[in-house]
Amino acid sequence: MPMKFEDYKQYLSPVFSKSSDLVAGEGHGLYITDVNGVKYLDMIQGIAVNVAGHTHPKIVKAIQDQAGKLIHASFNHVNYPTTLELAKRLASVAPGEGEKKLTSLFFSNGGAEATDSAIKLARCATGRPLIIACQGSFHGRTVGATSVTGSNSHYREAYEPLMGGVYWTPFPQRILCPDSIDNDDLEGRADYCLWMLENLLKFLAPPKEVAAIIMEPIQGEGGYVAPHPKFLKGVREICDKHGILLIFDEIQSGFGRTGKMWASQHFDVVPDIMTTGKAIGGGLPMSCVWSTPAIMDRWNKGTHGTTFGGNPVCAAAGLAVLDVIEEEGLIENSRVMGDYLQKQLKEMQKRHKIIADIRGIGLMTAAEFCKPGTFEPDANALSFITKYLREEEHMLTTGCGVNGNGFRFIMPLNIKQEEVDLCLEKFEKAVAAYEAK
Ligand SMILES: Cc1ncc(COP(=O)(O)O)c(C=O)c1O
Repeated sequence: MPMKFEDYKQYLSPVFSKSSDLVAGEGHGLYITDVNGVKYLDMIQGIAVNVAGHTHPKIVKAIQDQAGKLIHASFNHVNYPTTLELAKRLASVAPGEGEKKLTSLFFSNGGAEATDSAIKLARCATGRPLIIACQGSFHGRTVGATSVTGSNSHYREAYEPLMGGVYWTPFPQRILCPDSIDNDDLEGRADYCLWMLENLLKFLAPPKEVAAIIMEPIQGEGGYVAPHPKFLKGVREICDKHGILLIFDEIQSGFGRTGKMWASQHFDVVPDIMTTGKAIGGGLPMSCVWSTPAIMDRWNKGTHGTTFGGNPVCAAAGLAVLDVIEEEGLIENSRVMGDYLQKQLKEMQKRHKIIADIRGIGLMTAAEFCKPGTFEPDANALSFITKYLREEEHMLTTGCGVNGNGFRFIMPLNIKQEEVDLCLEKFEKAVAAYEAK
């Protein structure tokens, strides 16, 4: 008898917000097969984790080889060859140049933990208490990370008071800016948000008390929103002017997802601190905080740490991920397939009036559903289309955006054009089914 989720549900906290009852037995490449043998095209990929798809042979082998040698001894007490090598390899691809290159790394276990670590580092290195975060952001679910998360008040519900000393500024998303700024006017939105940030520093948050401004260079959970470069460049200038550290959360946007190793490289802006997670451990829990040696030197020794951070098996997987990215040209493929995907979606948008916006960069692309001819969010469209895709087309997908109307195309970065076409074909069938209702 195949296992049924229903029989085990009672043992799991209802706080697990599960989008399906699917019990996944195996995953290979683009596909997951459930314990009943039903195969699903997986366009969630562990929530943007599997850059090389499920169970890439090279990553599996690296994990198996290291697991047979040493699984855990704690990086606080001993060093592991895989983790040391991973630190060196990652430092070589770090953003920045010279003294500003982020070559000093701290390993942790998940994205939220990296966010907390980055906040602690920024406070410790500057001796300043305040953090500025962006509306529309998602940085994770620990208390620290929730405190700087502004993508949906639901994540904060029941947890106030959260960490103190956090101030908010808008990110240049359409829904966070005045209606008078046109949807296509990215520069207008950048100007507005920079003005709001200047005002925040003038009226509320004394600049000399601000340790850091934290943001995703491209917002993920908040709706796959890429800002105009002027915004990130302007924030960098404001940080430099006041000695504020700039933290970029590249947990979702990093490791080639946008067609460059780091999303920040699209904007030519280098942060002082960067956080990465998701893809870094090839599906095993790992994350990392990156900074310059000078900033890391100001993080008081022993005031932060973790039992599992830098785990040798995760690091072995991480080295294999870097090999696969390089050997299989995943970054270039993400750029090419991302451009192709966006072009096809923009064509599709002409055929379907509920698709109000196509946005993102590379394989970090989303569609937004609205009432035809308006920007009035249509959350029913997303829930219908998600369900239709799962039940009728056997394709797993997930959403984004505070209004529940954003559709994320999360593909592995080694996806082929015919596979992109298959995803698009299924997607369009679901859109058409909703419109025909
Ligand atoms: C940009 C960003 N930061 C942080 C996180 C939190 O990562 P984790 O769920 O591994 O704690 C996420 C997760 O979706 C994310 O997308």
